[in-house]
Amino acid sequence: MKAVMVSRGGPPDVLEYKDTPTPAPEPGQARVGLKAAGLNHRDVWQRRAYTAPEANILGSDGAGVVEEVGDPEHQQWVGREVVINPSLYWGDREDGPGPGYQILGIPTPGTYAEGVVVPVDNLVPKPQHLDFLKAAAIPLAGLTAWRALFSQGRLAPGETLLLPGIGSGVAGMALMIAKKAGARVIVTSSSEDKLAKAIQQGADFAFNYTDESWEQKVREMAAPDGIDLVLDHSGEQTLPADLRLLRTGGRITFLGATTGSQLILNLREAFFKQVHLIGTTMGSPREFRDLFRFVEQHRLEPEINHVYGLAEASDAHRLMEEGRQFGKIMLEI
Ligand SMILES: NC(=O)c1ccc[n+]([C@@H]2O[C@H](COP(=O)([O-])OP(=O)(O)OC[C@H]3O[C@@H](n4cnc5c(N)ncnc54)[C@H](OP(=O)(O)O)[C@@H]3O)[C@@H](O)[C@H]2O)c1
Repeated sequence: MKAVMVSRGGPPDVLEYKDTPTPAPEPGQARVGLKAAGLNHRDVWQRRAYTAPEANILGSDGAGVVEEVGDPEHQQWVGREVVINPSLYWGDREDGPGPGYQILGIPTPGTYAEGVVVPVDNLVPKPQHLDFLKAAAIPLAGLTAWRALFSQGRLAPGETLLLPGIGSGVAGMALMIAKKAGARVIVTSSSEDKLAKAIQQGADFAFNYTDESWEQKVREMAAPDGIDLVLDHSGEQTLPADLRLLRTGGRITFLGATTGSQLILNLREAFFKQVHLIGTTMGSPREFRDLFRFVEQHRLEPEINHVYGLAEASDAHRLMEEGRQFGKIMLEI
């Protein structure tokens, strides 16, 4: 089969489109013939830092048709259109994954390929209202947003949610989901274009975080009583403002460190404010199924920014590194 392989760390050019043996599923596994794969920033980190001796395949998001299963018990999956849950071997607990936890796409071969082998337990039927590209745009970012908003963030209808950096795939997915769940959503961005698009998609307020008075504007115009929940993916540079804008007893779910991972926290300020700082990553099989039930129920359609062919994965990575996108960058296979 054709796949996009990485064999050494470096810039987007290190990605190679080439032939590799088609993998065969073992018992409990299925091979999905992929029709679409989605990019996440994780792929960029993995590509830059790749050091393993063997070449491997990037990609956590994928949708396609089951071609083969590894045992007769799962034969009914063959020929079905599916979306893949990229949370592998999560385990039995809902409050966090077990020790064998992995994310699809390094160390296991990922979805930038014509086929991928995954556990049958990680397959979910593709929502009928979505084509393969839109279905494959949801898994990693959607699952992460779902857990951060609900299981960890306990978002309730009518609450005010802050999404800093709406250009992020996770934040974009969170906007789409949170609006359907009845939240008031405030977004920030460095780009006026992205702010306008977020408003079109239902954001209630949008502020440019490069404007020095943005925090004051949030307080005056959008959240005089403070924010109930912040979903933060950029870390060091955004968390101090999140804490200042939070209401007493408010929650911050944090899941990324794009701008750095060190935080100097004034403990007195935090405990007097009764702040809940909640780390979160990916999600459980139950959350993945709940997410896709919600997507079907509300006929949600994720925003797609750009579609490349599989052979053009390097170009797709370049676009992601430039950070101009609003919505997902996809590979059509
Ligand atoms: N723990 C998990 O399970 C998990 C899952 C997915 C992603 N992540 C992490 O979450 C982060 C986001 O990933 P992603 O793929 O969704 O998106 P991404 O493409 O990494 O998002 C980049 C966006 O971050 C925003 N940003 C950068 N600096 C900012 C700042 N100072 N203030 C506010 N926003 C800022 C920008 O938004 P604007 O363009 O709007 O300014 C930029 O477009 C990454 O670090 C990723 O590794 C973690």
